[in-house]
Amino acid sequence: MSIDPAKASWPKDFLWGFSTSAYQVEGAVAEDGRGPSIWDTYCRIPGKVANGDTGDVACDHYHRYAEDIDLLKRLNAKAYRFSVSWPRVLPKGKISQINEKGLDFYDRVIDKTLENGIQPWLCLYHWDLPQALHDLGGWANRDCVGWFADYAALIARRYGDRVKHFATFNEFCVFTLFGYSIPWAAPGIVDREQHLKAIHHVNLAHGAGIDVLRSLAPDASLGMIYNIQDVWPETDTPENRAAASLLDEHWNLAFPDPQLLGHYPPQIGKAIEPYMQPGDMAKISRPVDWLGLNHYGPIFAKADPKGIWGFGWGDSPEQDKNDEVGWAIYPEAFRDLLLRLTSRYKLPIYVTENGCGGEDKVDANGEVDDPRRITYLKLFIGAMHEAMEKGADVRGYFVWSFLDNFEWGSGYGNRFGLVHVDFENQKRTPKSSARWYAKLIG
Ligand code: FCB
Repeated sequence: MSIDPAKASWPKDFLWGFSTSAYQVEGAVAEDGRGPSIWDTYCRIPGKVANGDTGDVACDHYHRYAEDIDLLKRLNAKAYRFSVSWPRVLPKGKISQINEKGLDFYDRVIDKTLENGIQPWLCLYHWDLPQALHDLGGWANRDCVGWFADYAALIARRYGDRVKHFATFNEFCVFTLFGYSIPWAAPGIVDREQHLKAIHHVNLAHGAGIDVLRSLAPDASLGMIYNIQDVWPETDTPENRAAASLLDEHWNLAFPDPQLLGHYPPQIGKAIEPYMQPGDMAKISRPVDWLGLNHYGPIFAKADPKGIWGFGWGDSPEQDKNDEVGWAIYPEAFRDLLLRLTSRYKLPIYVTENGCGGEDKVDANGEVDDPRRITYLKLFIGAMHEAMEKGADVRGYFVWSFLDNFEWGSGYGNRFGLVHVDFENQKRTPKSSARWYAKLIG
């Protein structure tokens, strides 16, 4: 059993923060010149998102950012991780058409964050590709590397004077695997060749983005955000073991290994060979300053001969370890992972997402009591502390999420916020977990 985080001693400069992403909180999808993203399109495909929910309004953060950032301050946030909506600043995706009003919005967010003494951590891509670029082939088109580099340059030039922490992408694997092979995310394509190209082009775009950010924002600290978690066979059969091994390559290695070690993992590397051009690996593996880790819990893999890759999602054999929404809770796996990542990639780690979802209702007194989230956070933050004591180089922790928000395919039904949002009237109510976390980090 790990230590209670409130009783642990933390490095003085340990960075505590909250995370959000553009499409999940902003709303205002057709306002002030924003162009459509692939998520606007995907949400309108019947059956893709629970209840037919969309990000049209979300948390209305586009209009309420100032009060939201004031609330972050009251919750003792030292850092705020958010993403820029590419189609809000470049409605058609390309640099030839810049939307000044969209850029102004992030100026306001950044200035307000800094006024409150909170560090802005800006992520360039949290899954909302401009639809216009998808219409040109999206990530399966190698031109996307240049489009992304132009977008990165615009952001670095505009905000590099005030933003000192940039991430290129959030969860490379999730939006490529679920966007191009297992249709759980936009654009919802099932095509092995497009998927392989997307993996490679996104890796190249990351490298190009790092180069651009480095030259235009030379004093900024640069990284990228991976979702890494153990992949275990649902039951120990040779078929399930093979499925777990390939899923592990996709989930945990297909992006960090080329970006940080200069090679693809073996099975994916072989499949990607036809799309590799001379010099590509050097373009992908550019020096970075930190590794962002999003972590929730392990995945259970099973063989699925019908699946495009022969693997599918299995069930945890230990159902009692699942949280309210069925995600497996293994804090000790998180502790061990932090140690493994430190020795494998030798970079400072920021935990850029961790948290748990659920239903969270407002009670008769207008309060939202979420003791199970406090338990979850205690376990995981405690496990992180244990890993740090054993030598893991962890420099900060951002909880997912600041606000209940649009949770992709689950719509508004799965609440991850430390702050409850009533989507009828946009009222914000900090949950008991917010009070617990604010005290911890205050
Ligand atoms: C991660 C995403 C984030 C949120 C959490 C619950 O995969 O990065 O946007 O949906 O899961």
